[in-house]
This record gives sequence, structure tokens and C-alpha cells, in this order.
Amino acid sequence: MAFSLGLEGWVCVVTGAGSGIGAETARELAAEGAWVAVVDRDGDSAARVAAEIARGGGRAIGVTADVGQVESVAAAAAQIEAALGPCRVLVNNAAVRHREELLGMGVEAWNAVLAVNLTGALVCTQAFVSQMIGAGRGGSIVHVSSILGHHPQIGAGAYSVAKAGLGMLSRVLSLELAPHGIRSNVVSPGFTRTPANEASYRDPETAAARARMIPAGRPATPADLAQVIVFLASDRAAYIDGQDVVVDGGVSNTLVGLVPRPRGEPT
Ligand SMILES: NC(=O)c1ccc[n+]([C@@H]2O[C@H](COP(=O)([O-])OP(=O)(O)OC[C@H]3O[C@@H](n4cnc5c(N)ncnc54)[C@H](O)[C@@H]3O)[C@@H](O)[C@H]2O)c1
Repeated sequence: MAFSLGLEGWVCVVTGAGSGIGAETARELAAEGAWVAVVDRDGDSAARVAAEIARGGGRAIGVTADVGQVESVAAAAAQIEAALGPCRVLVNNAAVRHREELLGMGVEAWNAVLAVNLTGALVCTQAFVSQMIGAGRGGSIVHVSSILGHHPQIGAGAYSVAKAGLGMLSRVLSLELAPHGIRSNVVSPGFTRTPANEASYRDPETAAARARMIPAGRPATPADLAQVIVFLASDRAAYIDGQDVVVDGGVSNTLVGLVPRPRGEPT
């Protein structure tokens, strides 16, 4: 018997779905029969992904919204419920990239990163959980974090701090929402080749050096992430709650392998 995720007709909302991991997650959900709201602040890219899904026989709508703006999220939630019905799955994927050392960082830039990458997840959760509770069928939330939420790096600054916060946001939510049959989990991608960082992979030297440091021997594809996100969203993962699944080809486990040893000593 085929392994079905049982998502037919489920209303799934994916933020930042106009590109990269979010777009691939929207496609995978639609391929499983879900009805998908492709949300992005770039309305053209959201519309493009939704149209592509519809051309393939799936059901999707493109929605323009900025997860950093409460009113914008509220309007999107109302639009989605009217068009597709109450949300059953929320994927908090939208994020902005930002590299800057913390000591010199202005509060305005700090707030701008946190507003999208951390507060945006809370605002979307509040807006769509009320639909889940109203429908009374439970639900699932998957937050897309990063290995940078687990491991510090100079320059990762507010991005890293926001992603670490997202991990605890999810764990607290998992406890608050369990009585409603709603789960909350995190997926933490490692190095993933998407339009956001295409420049690093177009440079052959950087691409090869990155591949060498990843035990899997290659960066992740958006599909590597999307498949895990979709599984966690589904009832196949009904007993996984408050967890953080690191999807990084093993790179987080390589730290001790970097320790220098005298020549001839067994590694
Ligand atoms: N690519 C990687 O190597 C990598 C690694 C770790 C974690 N991640 C995380 O994965 C997620 C997706 O990253 P990606 O590489 O696919 O990025 P991407 O830049 O390709 O896509 C992100 C999308 O989010 C949208 N977006 C940004 N701010 C928004 C806002 N305020 N409201 C609505 N939409 C907004 C953008 O318009 C874009 O379409 C992010 O949360 C990112 O932090 C990515």
C-alpha cells in the first residue's frame, strides 16, 4: 500500500513560500493533496508559485502579506479562511537574512530582524491557531529555524538570536496548544542551496569547500527540508511535539573532528 500522508483537502499556510524552502514546501504539500496558501511579502513570487501548483493540478492561492506586520497577517488570515477554509497546518518559514556583529548593531536593525524572524512566527501562530481551534480538528505548526539557532558564529548576530528564540517559542507553544490537539515543532536546516544564498554556490571554490565540510558531501536541496516539514505537519507525526529536527547532512556533529592531533596518533 502506498504511504499516504493523508493531507487531502487540508488547508496549509506556508509563509515565505514565494522562494526556496517555503516554495518547495508548498509544492510538496500540494502534491500530497493539501490546499495551500502561498504567503509572501513579494506578492508576484507568491502568485507565481500558486499558479505553478494550480497548473500541475493542485489547489493553491497566492497571498501577499508581511509577517512582520500584525494587520497584514490578520488580513491574510481572513483572506485565506474565506478562500480555502480554516487553516490546519501553519509553516512559519519567512525570514530575513542579516549579517552584522552585535556590538555595532543599531537597535532599529535588530528590531527589524526580530520582527520578522521571531515575532512574525508568534503573530502568524496567533492568527492561524484561532482558526484551528475554531474548526476543532487540531492542527500542526512547523517553524523553520536554522543550525545558527543552535551554534553561534561571529556576524550571525540578530538572525542567530532570533532563531534560538524560535526554538523556545515552539516549545512553549507546544505545551499551550497540546490541549487543543495542536502540535508545534521546529525544523533546523543546515547549509541549503536556495535563491537566498545562490551566490555562495555559484563560486566553485566556496561550493567545493562547503561540500567537503558536510558529512553528506553536499548542501541540502529545498526538497530535503520540505519533505521533513511536510511529514511533521501530517498526522504521521502525531506523537512528535515540541521537538527540533536538525536537517543538516551531519554538519553539526563535526566539531570534535576539527581538533588537531599529533601526526601518527589514531584519530
Ligand atoms: N538557505 C539556507 O541555507 C538556510 C539555512 C538555515 C535556515 N534557513 C531558513 O529557511 C527559511 C527559508 O530560507 P530560504 O533560503 O528558502 O530563503 P529565501 O530567501 O529563498 O526565501 C524566503 C522568502 O521569505 C520571504 N519573506 C521575507 N520576509 C518576509 C516577510 N516579512 N513576510 C513574508 N515573507 C517574507 C521572501 O520574500 C522570500 O520569498 C528561512 O527561515 C531561513 O532562515 C535557510
